[in-house]
Amino acid sequence: MPASPRPFLLCLTTAAALFLPAAAEEATLRSVFKDDFTVGVALNGWTLSDRNPNATGLAARQFNSLTAENDMKWQMIHPQPDRYNFTAADAYVEFAEKHKMEVIGHTLVWHSQTPRWVFEGADGKPATREELLKRMRDHIQAVAGRYKGKVKGWDVVNEALSDGGREILRDSPWRKIIGDDFIDHAFRYAREADPEAQLYYNDYGLEDPRKRANCVKLVKGMLERKVPVDGIGTQSHFHLVQPSLEDIEKTIADFAALGLKVVVTELDVDVLPGRGPSGNADIGRREQGDSTTNPYTAGFPPDMQEKLAKRYADIFGIYLKHRKSVDRVTFWGLGDGHTWLNGFPIRGRTNHPLLFDRELKPKPAFEAVIRKGREPRSP
Ligand code: XIL
Repeated sequence: MPASPRPFLLCLTTAAALFLPAAAEEATLRSVFKDDFTVGVALNGWTLSDRNPNATGLAARQFNSLTAENDMKWQMIHPQPDRYNFTAADAYVEFAEKHKMEVIGHTLVWHSQTPRWVFEGADGKPATREELLKRMRDHIQAVAGRYKGKVKGWDVVNEALSDGGREILRDSPWRKIIGDDFIDHAFRYAREADPEAQLYYNDYGLEDPRKRANCVKLVKGMLERKVPVDGIGTQSHFHLVQPSLEDIEKTIADFAALGLKVVVTELDVDVLPGRGPSGNADIGRREQGDSTTNPYTAGFPPDMQEKLAKRYADIFGIYLKHRKSVDRVTFWGLGDGHTWLNGFPIRGRTNHPLLFDRELKPKPAFEAVIRKGREPRSP
């Protein structure tokens, strides 16, 4: 009878267990950056639904932080004065708990995706300051209160800064009706509703030196007035070339110097040409497309894949360099098929801004970010 092959096999398995554990373990975004920052994803109702096991499986494997792309915004969660709709939002919390992800609340006070009634008084005229403050407080109490202890942090106020002109603040209905102190009130109400949650001021385009300086001024004032702000969310809707790496790095450094947490809240890299110089992420911005603005409908060519991979590697190099200040990096979407950049600022385009393609397969950019994550850290 031939000798049993078992001891030999046993030997092999032991050797593999001793020498190959790292290779056998899948390198994921959440694992390679686990000692640096959490890595998040914004999902929407479509990606989160049971009909998409590929998407939910991928999200749970790769990410340890979750943001609802739309479902916690005022319009969705509080569509009418006396009606809250928590069904969709609850599903994110449940999913996150199940997969050991933290939950980020987005967003309590914004000028967009907020129903018109919010800013109206009983008689159809604009609401008064008192009416709107009460409405804001009730909303924050109801929403942040419901998820108390479950949400790690809230984007309390989104996009209050202006993009140009002499005014620091955007002339939103919040500011017009309440005044500049609407921001302070929102943060105080949020602290009251959930004393443990981190509270962020969130905006786009903060890499622009002028807007960044305004943000620093705004937040410094809040700190002086003892307004409970814990961090600044830099949305980070980037393009292939802009903003410069220097400005991305300086943004993190300037905010960290205020003693605040820095969170990257909505990272993506728009790869399509715009009609002028690449513009900002103002949700109200609309452009008309032409034959030159949608070049990759048949696929994203290898040379462009490489450009995107290099851009992401450079960006993550900065995040790693500042890993003591950067608390989290969240991608605004899972795969290219469902990114908001297919519709913004020009409708109906085929964009490729994320780490996973339309079939949710990892792109060279994903590999590049993972490679960065496996490099030794400098002290
Ligand atoms: C976007 C969503 O991705 C879209 O699905 C929705 O139609 C509009 O809003 N800045 C923000 C996000 O803070 O809430 C925006 O999300 C993108 C820009």
